[in-house]
Amino acid sequence: MCFREQRSKLNCATAMRGYLVAIFLSAIFLYYVLHCISWGTSVYWAHPVEMQQRKRGQPCREKPAFASLLRFHEFHPFLCASDFKKIASLYGGDKFSLPYGIKASEEPFRLALSALQSCDLFDEFDTMNNGPVLGHEEDVGRRTTFRLFYPESVFTDSNHRDPNTTAILTAFKPLDLKWLYDLLMGSKIDTKGFWQKPALDLIYKPYQIRILDPFITRTAAYELLHFPKVFPKNQKRKHPTTGIIAITLAFHICHEVHLAGFKYNFSDLKSPLHYYGNSTMSLMNASSYHNLTAEQLFLKDIIEKNFVINLTQD
Ligand SMILES: *[C@@H]1O[C@H](CO)[C@@H](O)[C@H](O)[C@H]1NC(C)=O
Ligand SMILES: *[C@@H]1O[C@H](CO)[C@@H](O)[C@H](O)[C@H]1NC(C)=O
Ligand SMILES: *[C@@H]1O[C@H](CO)[C@@H](O)[C@H](O)[C@H]1NC(C)=O
Ligand SMILES: *[C@@H]1O[C@H](CO)[C@@H](O)[C@H](O)[C@H]1NC(C)=O
Ligand SMILES: *[C@@H]1O[C@H](CO)[C@@H](O)[C@H](O)[C@H]1NC(C)=O
Ligand SMILES: *[C@@H]1O[C@H](CO)[C@@H](O)[C@H](O)[C@H]1NC(C)=O
Repeated sequence: MCFREQRSKLNCATAMRGYLVAIFLSAIFLYYVLHCISWGTSVYWAHPVEMQQRKRGQPCREKPAFASLLRFHEFHPFLCASDFKKIASLYGGDKFSLPYGIKASEEPFRLALSALQSCDLFDEFDTMNNGPVLGHEEDVGRRTTFRLFYPESVFTDSNHRDPNTTAILTAFKPLDLKWLYDLLMGSKIDTKGFWQKPALDLIYKPYQIRILDPFITRTAAYELLHFPKVFPKNQKRKHPTTGIIAITLAFHICHEVHLAGFKYNFSDLKSPLHYYGNSTMSLMNASSYHNLTAEQLFLKDIIEKNFVINLTQD
């Protein structure tokens, strides 16, 4: 199999009881795809708080290879309107402002979440709840598409419409939440305050949309990439690329992660950045928002330790 170098694909497989799920996920800059085959039950995807109660007495499962990287493996990655404040206070999200927490943005989070229909990991829980899927997990296969987005990087082309996609907002600033709320309410979008013109319409329906818990991004930044909490005044704060956020998300919901296409061509700044569009490597090299050195070291490390499998070939 041959992947273009600009394409990033993440593949994760878990061997648990249950039904088959595949997740695809993509983002700006690199195109990241997360393919996750999991064998899970609804218990597995529950909030950690509930899970502790429900999991008691269950037989141990094998730990994922990368378990040592994480404090919590089975963390529900999406915010829910009903308990996001409680979850934030349990996991420290109330002590960080965006992009790594909800501090001072509780109201925009509440509004945006109130416009969504679900915070579940998989849609079948919405439509089927305790119906045919549960109890028949061994027999039913299901593929779900996850796509990370933010206002400046969301598909608006209806060719990309896919009712099976779950679109995950990665909020970097309070305005991102207001943007989502306004869009879902059909209000006019004020384009001021975005680093690139934000999308003015969505190809996703409310049932498809989730909001990523900033805990995931915070884990990527501080625990996986070891970014400092404070940057010198003359330096811009660095944030993880969506690809690293995607891997972090995968670590929290998968048992096995395979990567493909996480490969930059640093030797030629004119080489294409993605397999689509016209962006070149120079965009990434010039980026003061990310630290690619730290990301490359992280990727090398998790590949060397066999925490993930690198599917990319030269
Ligand atoms: C969505 O999933 C259903 C059920 O698996 C499938 O029949 C359908 O073709 C999928 N739609 C798209 C656009 O992939
Ligand atoms: C990087 O780009 C240069 C110029 O386009 C090309 O010659 C080289 O083979 C590329 N390197 C890799 C590892 O793909
Ligand atoms: C890329 O560049 C080509 C040639 O200049 C142009 O036709 C095309 O529209 C560009 N594509 C994008 C996505 O900007
Ligand atoms: C790419 O960025 C690095 C770090 O900022 C810099 O040292 C290097 O000169 C840049 N490369 C080019 C070709 O501009
Ligand atoms: C980027 O990360 C590397 C490795 O952690 C570190 O040595 C370097 O100082 C960082 N650069 C910036 C600009 O933060
Ligand atoms: C994965 O392997 C390919 C082929 O050896 C290599 O070019 C690429 O840099 C590796 N990816 C990472 C993130 O190290």
